[in-house]
Amino acid sequence: MTRTALYAGSFDPITRGHLDIIERASHMFDSITVGVLVNNSKVPLLTLDERMDIVQKVTSHLSNVEVECFGGLLADYVNQKKFSAVIRGLRATTDFEYEIQMAQMNDRLFTGDTETIFLMTNPEYSFISSSLVKEVASLGGDVQGLLPGYALDVITRKLRNRK
Ligand code: PNS
Repeated sequence: MTRTALYAGSFDPITRGHLDIIERASHMFDSITVGVLVNNSKVPLLTLDERMDIVQKVTSHLSNVEVECFGGLLADYVNQKKFSAVIRGLRATTDFEYEIQMAQMNDRLFTGDTETIFLMTNPEYSFISSSLVKEVASLGGDVQGLLPGYALDVITRKLRNRK
């Protein structure tokens, strides 16, 4: 049986914490699809193409990782692609409340045997979120080491052009 997993998110932009989860999950599954969310209630800094391009480049060393985009309900996408699992990273107890709610709702909506699997974020990255990184970077703070190098280059350029 081929074990396939979806790792979904806005990735606006992908962080070192996200990448760590993808790398670890890539050892556990035959293939990982990174699903970049098309529309979000939040206005993204990066376009869908930019987010996908960054994810593609920073995961290019992982032969069993591919990048796709999806819109609408995650469960519809999962049911259509028949993923064995949905991977989520957990940073802290605050994440847990939201994540368990989402996992249980999705479980109701999944038509197959898809399981949501939580991986603990590496403590080195547990304080990182895309929104905090964007806020700090937009106010001139140093976010070196929090994003993969290419993602840092793109958001630095983007923020500079916005001024
Ligand atoms: O980058 P994020 O905010 O961690 O990603 C959250 C994501 C994309 C997994 C979640 O917002 C999602 O599943 N969105 C798709 C819409 C959906 O299915 N909503 C109901 C969730 S139970």
